Amino acid sequence: MHEELRDRAVAASGGAVFAPARVNLIGEHTDYSGGLVLPVAIDLGTTVTWQPLDGLVRVRSLAFGDVVAIHADGGGAATGWGRYVAAVAALLHERGRPDDGIDAVVSSTVPIGSGLSSSAALTVSLALALCRAAAYELEPLELARLLQEAERRAAGVPCGLMDPACILLARRGHALLLDCSSEEYRHVPLPEGIAIVVVDSGVRHALEHSGYAERRAEVERGDPRRMRHVTSENERVRRVVAALEAGDVDALGPLFREGHDSLRDDFEVSTPELDLLVDLAYEHGAVAARMTGGGFGGSIVALAGVRDARRLADAVVAAYAGRTGKDARAHVCASVDGAAAGPAERP
Ligand code: GLA
Repeated sequence: MHEELRDRAVAASGGAVFAPARVNLIGEHTDYSGGLVLPVAIDLGTTVTWQPLDGLVRVRSLAFGDVVAIHADGGGAATGWGRYVAAVAALLHERGRPDDGIDAVVSSTVPIGSGLSSSAALTVSLALALCRAAAYELEPLELARLLQEAERRAAGVPCGLMDPACILLARRGHALLLDCSSEEYRHVPLPEGIAIVVVDSGVRHALEHSGYAERRAEVERGDPRRMRHVTSENERVRRVVAALEAGDVDALGPLFREGHDSLRDDFEVSTPELDLLVDLAYEHGAVAARMTGGGFGGSIVALAGVRDARRLADAVVAAYAGRTGKDARAHVCASVDGAAAGPAERP
């Protein structure tokens, strides 16, 4: 079937879109100053199941149990998570997407505020559903930039390009090395025998949004301590990529450790809970561990031998509960393809 005919058939009948979450291996708070990032798409994510609908975008959230309904051009008042729906629809309308509506249900396995980009998984899945409903297409990086703007419009968070770019462009078995200045990227193979463990501290800080914007402003002003983090972090991304490519797994631990310390001391976005989880991960045999994502709460990422990963995850959660009385959640992740990876890209 011709591609265009196939697209029209999909637009007429509806479908489902899965957008994975991402965990960043290294390169934290570097994207908005044009630095390097190295995220992986993982097997948690957000699914939008949709059918065509005339003129309206109606989305029901299984998590929140409510329905958002706006005009297909993004117009109409929206509150709460509905602001993401409105921002995505409005920006796509401005870009030239025909105003075809959808009747959709969104469900997600990404814990909100966990540092695994739950909001980008939502905007990517919604945007792809809207594009498919209108047989309309944007290049993945163009769509990623549009969704970066959607985050700013919906939540006022001046985030970088990493999350939507990774969620769209990632490849199973690989990390995505993205240069946020040139927007060049390549897929870096993950070492055999190493598993990715994410441990969510369960702690969310009110500072998450305002603190992020403040850090970005400090970087833009050239604050020396914040810049020391950015410069050293970009160098660590290069060294982690070199270590992965050389199969030198032992080199990863010290680089992740330095990365975490720099986020804690120079960038000041870690929390006592994240610091403790990182220490516990190393104590229980992690090859490498650091906080991941924007910080002010959220998760750590740890690398461990595949045979040790489950045991390590359980031991860290138990020790954390013993020390803090708090419930952490651990997930041993599989890496997956990004939402825009076509069948030809699948190994
Ligand atoms: C959040 C933002 C990203 C990035 C990270 C920190 O996830 O959405 O753009 O800045 O924080 O690395």
